[in-house]
Amino acid sequence: MTILKLMRCMQVFGIWIVLYMSETHSVTVDLASPEVFDPVFYSNYYHQVITHSVNSPEAVKQHWLTHGIDAGWQGSGQFHSKEYIARYPDLQKAFGNNYRAAIQHYLTFHTSEHRLGLSTSHHFGGRWTALNHGIYIGSSTRTGGAVDSLTWNNKEFINSRDHGRQMQMACNTNKYTECYNPTEAGGLCDHTLSTTHTHIDWVHVHGNVIESLVYPAFWKPVKPSSGTQHDCHYGQWCPAHQGYHTTYDYPFHKKITIGTHGINNCFEFVSNFTIGGNWPQDDLLIQMEAPAVYMTYEFTKQFTFNPATRLAENYHNKHLPFILSTPDHNYALGAYTPQRQDTDIHENYDSHLFKGSNFAGTTSKFNIVFYKRPHGTGVRQYVYRTYFCVGTLNDVTSCLHKIMTAVPK
Ligand SMILES: *[C@@H]1O[C@H](CO)[C@@H](O)[C@H](O)[C@H]1NC(C)=O
Repeated sequence: MTILKLMRCMQVFGIWIVLYMSETHSVTVDLASPEVFDPVFYSNYYHQVITHSVNSPEAVKQHWLTHGIDAGWQGSGQFHSKEYIARYPDLQKAFGNNYRAAIQHYLTFHTSEHRLGLSTSHHFGGRWTALNHGIYIGSSTRTGGAVDSLTWNNKEFINSRDHGRQMQMACNTNKYTECYNPTEAGGLCDHTLSTTHTHIDWVHVHGNVIESLVYPAFWKPVKPSSGTQHDCHYGQWCPAHQGYHTTYDYPFHKKITIGTHGINNCFEFVSNFTIGGNWPQDDLLIQMEAPAVYMTYEFTKQFTFNPATRLAENYHNKHLPFILSTPDHNYALGAYTPQRQDTDIHENYDSHLFKGSNFAGTTSKFNIVFYKRPHGTGVRQYVYRTYFCVGTLNDVTSCLHKIMTAVPK
């Protein structure tokens, strides 16, 4: 056989293999499986996807299938084709930038070959992800290192449409409210953009821990005058920044650990606020959200956890642990904060639903708030611990009971 004939034969054989593989995969693998794609994550991360006509989970899924996959976009908080390929040299060789084939490979083999769809030790494409016991917690440069994704059992929990959502730290005073309001993820003017006015000093991720130090954006730019008064462009969406400060001079530090006190589905969120400099002096209370949590349109059921009965009851109490769940109780997030922390007023679990014009804009919010009366003008730190439980509603109530026993009031 001549070399040429041999090559032609191999070529035909090779094509036959590729055709055979794509035939078999196309009938067995759903490329929009929730293992690799979540419509909320996708449309929040790539804000341009949502348009007048593309504004339902089904339409966004079509966008993924026809555009996102081949462009190598990230479809979910727990998988990214580009990162999957970059992580494994054998896959780099086999797939190059054929992201469709990489996704097919992941869906077919990741369980049996024990492969991960993301890195959990460094950042990739502007994202960091911590993982433990099937809970993925992700943050991004877009959101100043603030948590913009939490997935468990292939479901996105977090709404990250604009920079005032996410799972994030923020603080203000009851007099100036949004007019002196350092916000971890970014400012109002950052809106749905992929940039932020928060300055990231560092973000570290290692296995089950994600930690960051950032200088947060003011939610609305402020103009400090004489140290006691603060002026902000209230009536305007985004002021021209003539003499206005967009970023706070002091850092927010946070540390999240997935799996704590021997409870796999519990994570600890430590918020460390630095208050100082021009912080308003003529107000009554510093109000610290540690943190605020904005969930997706599917989390619409609010519960109060009753420690005495260990049951989730209809929401009725701002001082007991709070749970947000999907109506079928298959996905839920609960929050508990031990009482003896450095606070003047009891923490408060407050919850609201906000209806947007479509699923990507609709969110359920709850926040954990610590109030502190300011003393003097020095620079000081306030550190608060909150525990979150993830799982089905039953998983969450049993986890809340365990963590309340391990870390009593
Ligand atoms: C709080 O953050 C500051 C940095 O802003 C750091 O120096 C300090 O050690 C942190 N405190 C705790 C308890 O983590």
